[in-house]
Amino acid sequence: MSNLSGALSIADLRQMARRRLPASVFDFIDGGAEDERTLADNRHALTRHRISSRVLVDVSRPNLETSIFGNTWAAPFVVCPMGSCALGWPEADIAIAKAATSHGIAYTLSTMSTTSIERMASAVQGRLWFQLYVLKNSALNDDLIARAHAAGYEALVVTVDLPVGGKRERDLRNGISMPLRFSTKHIWQGITHPGWAWRMINSKFPEFENVRDFMGQEGAGLTIAARVGESLNASYQWSDLVQLRDKWKGKLLVKGVQHPGDALRMLEIGIDGLWISNHGGRQLDGAIASADALPAIYEATQGRTTLIMDSGVRRGVDALVAKALGANAVGIGRAPLLGACVGGEKGAHKAIEILIDELRRAMQLSGVANFSSAKVDLS
Ligand SMILES: Cc1cc2nc3c(=O)[nH]c(=O)nc-3n(C[C@H](O)[C@H](O)[C@H](O)COP(=O)(O)O)c2cc1C
Repeated sequence: MSNLSGALSIADLRQMARRRLPASVFDFIDGGAEDERTLADNRHALTRHRISSRVLVDVSRPNLETSIFGNTWAAPFVVCPMGSCALGWPEADIAIAKAATSHGIAYTLSTMSTTSIERMASAVQGRLWFQLYVLKNSALNDDLIARAHAAGYEALVVTVDLPVGGKRERDLRNGISMPLRFSTKHIWQGITHPGWAWRMINSKFPEFENVRDFMGQEGAGLTIAARVGESLNASYQWSDLVQLRDKWKGKLLVKGVQHPGDALRMLEIGIDGLWISNHGGRQLDGAIASADALPAIYEATQGRTTLIMDSGVRRGVDALVAKALGANAVGIGRAPLLGACVGGEKGAHKAIEILIDELRRAMQLSGVANFSSAKVDLS
């Protein structure tokens, strides 16, 4: 399969990316922690459900729109925050954000993105969210929040499932780091992937633009997860979240929620939305799959908050299953990133298009005319 038009599914895009990227870069994106149990469970927890379809419903004009925080989005997908994306394709963050906004869905910029808050805001005319990793340096956290506010980001997403970096053994074996450090193995991988190497040589070297000045060369040779983990505040706790709630006046979501007890406490302190996630299986191996965590959180919160679920979404029908389990929308991470690694903005566009097309068809085939009011029965 040589060009994007041949890609029918996210799995096709993944195969194309696997061929085009050096193994160390592909593994960084594709991989999970330790034995990758949670990575596999995420997929299984979505695919084991079956929909009990309704028939004789007018599905000639399915409505995929969903409302999040009073805003209408064209489809119930949100692009997850992802760091280090430019390792796969130059300016991958901007490529993905442009594709997302052109499809009318939300895009979340990571603290560890390879595009700064300001550069993203000026490159993309759309509604953006910013994801905060709570760094050890609290002045820097305040600075990031102030920058996101000044640049017009609509919502703040604070990620709480990375007090330390997960043990990602593929990355440890491959020795991948940010900034890239070239060993003989990496040079050989570059030579054998000339398209990728050419793009890298002719573009800005990937770096953590938001925190570049503060991180310096500290931990420069570590794996990406370890380096990010090293700079994060592992003592971050409830009282800090309460303070963050006071500081950020806009919508505030917490990403990495898995337990209904935590979900309830977050509602009490005024968090606007809960993002159920295990970081795509990249952190705690053995963590509950997101689709398995979702029903109890929905039950506990009783529709009183917005629930976004990520980890493992690869098909449009997954959004319908997640809806049945209680989600308002699903987060998509690797899917658009793998697309971008194959063809930049066009590739990311393709990935989102595939998911939207699949969801539309799944709604029609299961008798759902309207996503946001859908009552889907699972068996
Ligand atoms: C390459 C990569 C980088 C990521 N970087 C971040 C990050 O900077 N911040 C964050 O909160 N989550 C990060 N994540 C996790 C995603 O936001 C999301 O939770 C996960 O990818 C969802 O699973 P999926 O890839 O199966 O869709 C990253 C994931 C990947 C694949």
